Amino acid sequence: MSKRIGFDRRRFLAGTAGALGTAFFGRFPLETMVEQGAPPAVQGWDAGLVRHLLPTVSDSRILLKVSFDRPLSAAPTLRVGTTEVVGRQNDTAGEHWQFYAADLRPGTRYELTLQQSGGGSLCEPWPLSTFPAPGSSPERFRMLFFTCAGGPGGSYGGIGQRQGFLPTTIRNRLLRRALSFKPDAAVANGDHIYWDLHTWEGDNAGQLSANGMRSNFDFSASVFGASNEVAMKAAAGPQIVPVYGSDFRSVPVFFLQDDHDHWENDAVTDEIASYPVPWFQLQLARATQQLYYPEFLPDQRRPNGLPWSGADGRGDLSESFGTVRYGDLAEVLLYDVRRTMSLGGPNAVFVDAEVERWLIECTAATSVRHLVHAPSNPFGWSAGKWGEWYPDVLDLERGELTTGIEKPYWQEGWLRQHDRLVQAIGGQSERAGLIISGDLHAIGVGRLHRAGRVDFGTQPITTVLGGPIGTSIRGFPSVVRGIGATPPGHLDLEESVAPIEDHGFTLVDFLPDRMVLRQFAWDVDVQPLDAIGRLEPFYTTDLPRPG
Ligand SMILES: [Fe+2]
Repeated sequence: MSKRIGFDRRRFLAGTAGALGTAFFGRFPLETMVEQGAPPAVQGWDAGLVRHLLPTVSDSRILLKVSFDRPLSAAPTLRVGTTEVVGRQNDTAGEHWQFYAADLRPGTRYELTLQQSGGGSLCEPWPLSTFPAPGSSPERFRMLFFTCAGGPGGSYGGIGQRQGFLPTTIRNRLLRRALSFKPDAAVANGDHIYWDLHTWEGDNAGQLSANGMRSNFDFSASVFGASNEVAMKAAAGPQIVPVYGSDFRSVPVFFLQDDHDHWENDAVTDEIASYPVPWFQLQLARATQQLYYPEFLPDQRRPNGLPWSGADGRGDLSESFGTVRYGDLAEVLLYDVRRTMSLGGPNAVFVDAEVERWLIECTAATSVRHLVHAPSNPFGWSAGKWGEWYPDVLDLERGELTTGIEKPYWQEGWLRQHDRLVQAIGGQSERAGLIISGDLHAIGVGRLHRAGRVDFGTQPITTVLGGPIGTSIRGFPSVVRGIGATPPGHLDLEESVAPIEDHGFTLVDFLPDRMVLRQFAWDVDVQPLDAIGRLEPFYTTDLPRPG
């Protein structure tokens, strides 16, 4: 096997994506996309033909998503210890495969080997551990949380010289710093890609965006096959492959989808609304997940039939609702609010009634020592966007959020569901209520004392903005709307760390008697690149179990 030396452009262009991409991307700078699509160089591990690799695990299962430098004509095999699993082809070209191993032993470090059908390694073997059994009592679990790692790579020429999203190499550098603290798992909470297909402002509202025109999707055809699949890969691949490469091969990931993962911004006008998600874009969201990052493995406490989360051929995997369960030490509930968002006025919801029931039952159960809610959009702050729990909207004249102006198309039922959820979270007598959310381009911590008429008394809920990885200059709330993320009028929120508009991430240590959160921030406008490799936490939150 040869060591990867840089990126083999000829190999990429010889592949389907490159050859057809030239035809479908016309004037688009394919050369740029090719360069951005290269995975980061790996130190100390021979990636062989692997372009990217993202695993997830439970106590008994492993699911891997893998792409290769060239199409494989026959199914490769994954060996997990003594178990052999034949790969399942996820695209029509044979570049993307998944491997799903079940009936594994809990809390076991396996050596994984990927082999071509005729034998021969596809990459060097590597270790991956299953989680401890649900009934076991591990002493420690460290999780990484971040959000908004997507976006086509922008440019950076030094402090004060940047354009677009953070270059993918810098995002990878941030994630490598996070990985240097040796987390046991990672939550990537939403917005893994930004390729919104429609325009939401100005005279062209509702029309195809520039990206939408470049992709030139046939909305009435399948996502798979012909030009649609090529366009999907050309848009999504360069936003994911170079950010992660194979860096998380031994760190299970939990990728939750949010608005942009459905190929649209969270926005509404008289012409068009992003929800309910249009059928073709739902298929794009599903296809992106199928190719690039793992769905959620089943969990004994999560119903397999939660709405909008399964698809034919996916078996018991969930697309939108996930569980991280680490013995009796920690449970993290992940929920995408976009798939089941409804528009029924006072009865509208973000998550379907069955999903809400699952969340509330898990929150009421006392079998784990720590429980975290990880929704795809934030509790505690508003950026004045449409698809938020809260009715606050920007008062253009006063430059502040207000509830005195009606927020167009906002649904009262969303806030009612918010209050039911926080009531359950705040009602945990043996655990500290904790929410770590995605979507918002900022890092922050707050203590939620009251939501409407629900008062949390001596046990406020801690709500956290985990930190964005790829945010563009225009992505930070104060640039988009001229005002930073703000506590909504509905809440009594004590801002321990008022939202900071930097790139960053959060590490959570789960210990038997407490959770310890450490938050990291890198200021692209002030700090040099090499400061990323030395980042230390700027804020620590200690959350002991009550009583
Ligand atoms: Fe989002």
